Amino acid sequence: MMPLIDPIGRTINYLRLSVTDRCNLRCTYCMPEAGIDKIAHGDILSYEELYRIAQAAVSMGIDKIRITGGEPLVRKGIVHFLHQLSEIPGLEQLVLTTNGVLLEEMAADLHAAGVQRLNISLDSLNPKTFAHISRCGDLERVLAGIEAAKACGFPIKLNMVVMRGINDHEIVDLAALATTSAITVRFIEYMPAIREHNWQKLVVPGSEILSRLAQHFTLVPVEQSETAGPARNFRIPGAIGTLGVITPVSHDFCSECNRIRVTASGLAKGCLFSTSQVDLKLALRNGSNMLLNQALGSVVDTKPVRHQMNPEECYHQAFSMSSIGG
Ligand code: 5AD
Ligand code: SF4
Repeated sequence: MMPLIDPIGRTINYLRLSVTDRCNLRCTYCMPEAGIDKIAHGDILSYEELYRIAQAAVSMGIDKIRITGGEPLVRKGIVHFLHQLSEIPGLEQLVLTTNGVLLEEMAADLHAAGVQRLNISLDSLNPKTFAHISRCGDLERVLAGIEAAKACGFPIKLNMVVMRGINDHEIVDLAALATTSAITVRFIEYMPAIREHNWQKLVVPGSEILSRLAQHFTLVPVEQSETAGPARNFRIPGAIGTLGVITPVSHDFCSECNRIRVTASGLAKGCLFSTSQVDLKLALRNGSNMLLNQALGSVVDTKPVRHQMNPEECYHQAFSMSSIGG
């Protein structure tokens, strides 16, 4: 298979596919207080349509698909859909991002359906802080979900969005999870997705996260692996797991970006922060696979060179992560 290459030479092999904009949490960094305008049910792609997109993408050179939301596990029929995706020839990695709320019930079925790895959001180990950040979540359920996923043998990454004054005092506690368990704990710089006032004060730069971790642990940089994505990874001598830091704000990784995204309503984007998007529904509902391939190809051809997000200014439109899948 020919690799899929964009105009500045980046190999595009990774599709993030959102299956729903609905969520059973309301994380402050993801949604405005009042919630979001939900996509009307009729505008959400059917599983058949999502499958066609996946198939077309794989036929063009995509070999890794991450299923996202909203919260992907709230969509009915998701396990069956995942099983179908896992059988697409040429798809090497099928992975999923979840908030963990439904994992206790679903982990075994996801594993059986062919999902290979899980990224689970975990922003706090304190029940009150967790409930505050998620505006309604029950930490116990997420922790039980993580245990269930571990018991199935899933490789797991825990993602913490670090916010100053909110959960940044827990960085070391979260990192300690990786000392006794075979997981990767990743710290993500807060991004101004919903564009609230004074967002800059919430950002803890990756360099500061690292220096604070280094006061408690010896951090040994790890060679970038295939699955590392934009994270810089570290090992702690004697620890079973590893740590990662993702710095979309202070240090962009656009030059190595290998991904495209599709929302649950079929809008394909080359970048989380780009305002241009291609509506795949037109191609899907016209029925021709060639049009679908062309539409996906045009997303790759117009993928921005870099994002327009820096700590001084913020050009992008406000958007909800739940509609595009983080
Ligand atoms: N800043 C950083 N990461 C975010 N995510 C969602 N919103 C943001 C944001 N504003 C990422 C988190 C979360 C996943 C679903 O998407 O990692 O765990
Ligand atoms: Fe839901 Fe994830 Fe957004 Fe939180 S970050 S509201 S869990 S989609």
